[in-house]
Amino acid sequence: MSVGKERGVTEMKNRFDLTGKVAIVTGAGQGLGASMAHALADAGASLVCASRTVSKAEEVCAEIIKNGGSSISVHVDVGDAQSVDKMVKQTLEKYGTIDILVNNAGTNHRELCVNMTEEQWDDVIRVNLKGVFLCSRAVGPTLIEKKRGKVINIASVMGSATLPARGPYSSSKAAVIQFTKLLALEWAPYNINVNAIGPGYFTGRMNSTLKDADSILNHIPMGRMADPEELAGAIIYLSSDASNYVTGQTLFVDGGFLCL
Ligand SMILES: NC(=O)c1ccc[n+]([C@@H]2O[C@H](COP(=O)([O-])OP(=O)(O)OC[C@H]3O[C@@H](n4cnc5c(N)ncnc54)[C@H](OP(=O)(O)O)[C@@H]3O)[C@@H](O)[C@H]2O)c1
Repeated sequence: MSVGKERGVTEMKNRFDLTGKVAIVTGAGQGLGASMAHALADAGASLVCASRTVSKAEEVCAEIIKNGGSSISVHVDVGDAQSVDKMVKQTLEKYGTIDILVNNAGTNHRELCVNMTEEQWDDVIRVNLKGVFLCSRAVGPTLIEKKRGKVINIASVMGSATLPARGPYSSSKAAVIQFTKLLALEWAPYNINVNAIGPGYFTGRMNSTLKDADSILNHIPMGRMADPEELAGAIIYLSSDASNYVTGQTLFVDGGFLCL
């Protein structure tokens, strides 16, 4: 390999390098959140693993440290402003700054609208939409002061397409895609990138009780659900300098689901 080519490879790797960056991932105790926390740590970031069930976040945090990374675990209820502010305070006390926020915490109640209770509706909107707003608002002043930062909201293919029994879920994810554009506009003058990832169907708790799994598989051009590790490329890209001129976008990682 020529020297010039080696230098090119190193420069390209550096664009994806997150060494020295501090990332908060909400809902980091399991599933896609845990997987993205590991990916960010593997790329060099220090990780704040935040979740409602803190014991699960502690496990992910311990694995990151065992693998040679830096991490703390904190409790957060993303729908509660005081709890979110405490998460940010704990992050700043430990690491002194924040560079990356991954708004991943999410929930779902699959029920037809005629059977959906108000409590179920409110719960999904509170976690999936209000949670994204509260966490972004709490981290905003730090990113704005630095004039640098990355916010990645985890939306869903259900924010674009929809299916029966996805009322509040689909509505909340469509709103997250719109909120991503809104925040991208408000924070572009501060050099802050705000983007979303729209996962398709991934293996894990959220899809373990799918009643229409077969028909969904038939609707995925790649013919399979994804492994959570298959989000690594998207989250590192949107968290790194490689995406510095990308903002307000939703990157769907869906095996072609939305092409049909
Ligand atoms: N899995 C998929 O195929 C898929 C597809 C599209 C989009 N997504 C989105 O990707 C994200 C992660 O999904 P997942 O499949 O990994 O789900 P999951 O396995 O159910 O994990 C969700 C995580 O969010 C946490 N959480 C829920 N409510 C919270 C709250 N109020 N405050 C703080 N943390 C809270 C959960 O904590 P507890 O353990 O305490 O409940 C859990 O750690 C969600 O936003 C989801 O909508 C997933």
